[in-house]
Amino acid sequence: MDLATIITERRSIRRFNSRSVSQELVTELLAQAVRLYGQGESPRVRFVYAGTPEARERLVDGMTSSMRENKLMRWVPGKMIELFKSRFTAIPGHLIVVAEAGSDRSGGEASVAAACGIMQIFQLLGWEQGLGMLWDTERIIQNEVFFKQIGIRDHEVFVGILHIGYFDKAPRGRSRTPAEKKWTVYEGREAKTV
Ligand SMILES: Cc1cc2nc3c(=O)[nH]c(=O)nc-3n(C[C@H](O)[C@H](O)[C@H](O)COP(=O)(O)O)c2cc1C
Repeated sequence: MDLATIITERRSIRRFNSRSVSQELVTELLAQAVRLYGQGESPRVRFVYAGTPEARERLVDGMTSSMRENKLMRWVPGKMIELFKSRFTAIPGHLIVVAEAGSDRSGGEASVAAACGIMQIFQLLGWEQGLGMLWDTERIIQNEVFFKQIGIRDHEVFVGILHIGYFDKAPRGRSRTPAEKKWTVYEGREAKTV
C-alpha cells in the first residue's frame, strides 16, 4: 500500500474483534513512529500500555470512575456504564500518551505536538498491519483517579489514549472539508480568503 492510500483509507475503528494484539508489535511500531517523527532531539513524550485483561479492567475502572459523579451522567443507567466498561475492557490494547508540559519556550506545545505527530504516524503504521485504533480524548475519562492510576506527574499532560485492536470491517469515511476552503492567498496587502 502506498502512503497516500494508507492515509486516505485509515479510519477510526470503534468496533474491534477479539484477536489479541502482540505487545512486541505495538512497541515495534511505536519505536518506528518515534523515529519517523524525527525532530532532532528525542521528543518529551512517554507511553503507558495496558494489554493484559487485568490491566485493561483496572484502566477502564479508572476511565469510568468519574461517570457516576458527573452531573451530565447522572441520568445514565448503571447498566449502560457497565456496558461501556465491558466494551472497552474487551479492546485488546490501550496506549496512553503523555507529554511533558512547559518543557519548551512556547509552554510545552512542542511536546504535545510531537505526541500528536507520533500518534498519527503510529496509527498509519498500525493500519498497514491491519490494526485499527480509536484516538480517545473524551473529557469524561480525564479525571484525577485515572491520572493517578496511570502515573501522570505534575509536569506532564495527558494527550490521549489509542484503543488498539484488529477489526472485521472498516466504517465508511466521513466527508472532509476540502483544503481549498481553508486557503488564504496573501498578496502583501489585506489577506484575501478564497
Ligand atoms: C486529537 C483527536 C482527538 C480525538 N478524540 C476522540 C474522542 O475523544 N472520541 C472519539 O470518539 N473520537 C475521537 N477522535 C477520533 C475522531 O473523531 C475521528 O478521527 C473522526 O471521527 C474522523 O474519523 P476517521 O479517523 O475515520 O477519519 C479524535 C481524533 C483526534 C485526531
